[in-house]
Amino acid sequence: MDLVQVSDNGAVRSVRMNRPEKKNALTFAMYDALAAAIEGAQETPAVRSILLGGSQTDFCAGNDIGNFAQMSNHNDERPRPSRRFMHALARNEKPLVAAVQGNAVGIGATMLLHCDHVVASSEARIAAPFVSLGILPEAGSTLIAPRLMGHMRAFSLLVMGRPLNAEEAKAAGIVNTVVPPAQVETEALKAAQEIAALPAEGVLTARRLMRGSRDELIARIDEEAEFIRTRLSSPEARAAFEAFLNRKKA
Ligand code: COA
Repeated sequence: MDLVQVSDNGAVRSVRMNRPEKKNALTFAMYDALAAAIEGAQETPAVRSILLGGSQTDFCAGNDIGNFAQMSNHNDERPRPSRRFMHALARNEKPLVAAVQGNAVGIGATMLLHCDHVVASSEARIAAPFVSLGILPEAGSTLIAPRLMGHMRAFSLLVMGRPLNAEEAKAAGIVNTVVPPAQVETEALKAAQEIAALPAEGVLTARRLMRGSRDELIARIDEEAEFIRTRLSSPEARAAFEAFLNRKKA
């Protein structure tokens, strides 16, 4: 079974993270597949919106912490698939709709900041515990989150690591609609189809103007990534990864 499932239904490209047993934590291969799906949509005029989703119980639990732990032991300077995915999000021109069930953690939370419309389950939980994990916020979130939610709410989410429930995320301006879990997919698909039915040129131009400078965003993604690269081998990060990987379940 593909860990990322991509299918085009009419003018909507559906991109689904599919590793439910690990809460859709992202491996390198999954980042590459997500990036390819978004990059490919740019070259496909028939695709007029992208619907990003996870499994029935979780959107995405963030970067695979086992991968983080491996990276912390190897000072590997090669560009990582996570960077490719973040750049794909920053360069993306097609409207991005997310259907959020359950946990949206780490990159699962920060990818929402790149979306244009977010439908969340009433049970959704959005969290970005980067700093307590010994690392730093990524995906351009240090630039976009304060713009979307204001500095203090962004600080609470990205630095203090306080999670948001669905209603709080809506009040903060990063979720449009909160619905019962069973309605998330239908509502999100409806929004993606609604966008896809609008005049394509108008949608693309308005979105581009509203999103502002991509160069600034890409530069910030790269700047954050450099800090994270050095933080990954810090004692705090190593200890946090070990603690997660060795935790005992009740
Ligand atoms: N990386 C690797 N594995 C992960 C993961 C991650 N980011 N998130 C969850 N998993 C795995 C768990 O290790 C567990 O695997 P196992 O069954 O083989 O032990 C499985 O997914 C289910 O997770 P579990 O923690 O048992 O589910 P839960 O419902 O109790 O909690 C979360 C869900 C998302 C709150 C919790 O898994 C979590 O906090 N994950 C880490 C999130 C995170 O910090 N991400 C990185 C941010 S930068």
